[in-house]
Amino acid sequence: MKVGGKHFRTIWRKPDDERVVQLIDQRFLPHQFVIEEVRSVEQMATAIREMHVRGAGLIGASAGYGMYLAALETASAGRDSFDKHMTLAAARLRATRPTAVNLSWAIERQLQNIAAGKTADQNVALALRTADLIADEDAEHCGMIGKHGLALIRQIAKTKRNKTVNVLTHCNAGWLAFVDYGSATAPIYAAHDSGLPLHVWVTETRPRNQGSKLTAWELGQHGVPHTVIADSAAGHLMQRGDIDLIIVGTDRTTYTGDVANKIGTYLKALAAKANDIPFYVALPSSSIDWKMRDGLKEIPIEQRSAEEVKNADGWCDGQQIAVRIAPDESPAANYGFDVTPRELITGLITERGVCEANERSIRSLFPEHAP
Ligand code: MRU
Repeated sequence: MKVGGKHFRTIWRKPDDERVVQLIDQRFLPHQFVIEEVRSVEQMATAIREMHVRGAGLIGASAGYGMYLAALETASAGRDSFDKHMTLAAARLRATRPTAVNLSWAIERQLQNIAAGKTADQNVALALRTADLIADEDAEHCGMIGKHGLALIRQIAKTKRNKTVNVLTHCNAGWLAFVDYGSATAPIYAAHDSGLPLHVWVTETRPRNQGSKLTAWELGQHGVPHTVIADSAAGHLMQRGDIDLIIVGTDRTTYTGDVANKIGTYLKALAAKANDIPFYVALPSSSIDWKMRDGLKEIPIEQRSAEEVKNADGWCDGQQIAVRIAPDESPAANYGFDVTPRELITGLITERGVCEANERSIRSLFPEHAP
């Protein structure tokens, strides 16, 4: 997507130096646009853990490039040392964040593909090809999600006789959370680009404010009309009939259709059900966990530092500052994600089309994952 009129992906190889990966460091958005250069798997692990990059698809693509950097680091070692280094690199990357399944999906794909290498050069070439493939596929799949989601928005626009369609989204499942286009935002961009009148309600998404900081910024860069609201305002708008459709992303969806997404998603799904508002989840198949059946029992929910809840951070006099918004002595808990059970979900928008959030319907779109 575009920043200041120029096309960017969120992660790419440095054009004149194949040993360097560049990425948008999201910690400074929307106030500063910073590009970070990453030269080692260690540095990539830090970028994922400390959320310079975040969002399911981008975490997967970053892990893919992290494995490529690991392969470069040990390219000239013998097969045994190479394999040892790659196993360690995989463990280091896997330990960064627990909830988005794209992380382990990308690492497994790298380990499988590089196993075929016979020489050091082949190992590196395979790791590079796989990393590029993961990134390209992510962008392509999000583009397809846009096309399928556009059909849904068109239907709603028709029933509203082409009056503005109001979409609510939570957190950032935008292009910043992927390599390009985004999952929840891809249908929004497609609808906006096709001239459909559309307005997006953006929930701020405490404690890290991915909605107000990232989603609002990227929609603004693309010229999509939007309004930021406090998380707690979403139910009020739904009750008043101000929301036609909700589209969110996911960090991990079980093959039975339970959806883990940023904390607060479950409450929005409950309010949507109570108010009869369609609630869609947009996802590339790399976010489906084909091993997990019961989302509530099995999906690991990340808990982050209590400081993120006790502070609010923002821009003041040209610098990023944090201010205390809770008593120093009060304990705080910081759950990063929640699970929305399949019963609350109207449908899943994938790169292969829209399906219901249940095992039969998901498998009918992805028959290669038959048990
Ligand atoms: O903690 P984050 O920012 O990595 O969380 C991920 C998210 O942005 C959301 O949960 C998103 O809606 C799904 S990821 C495409």
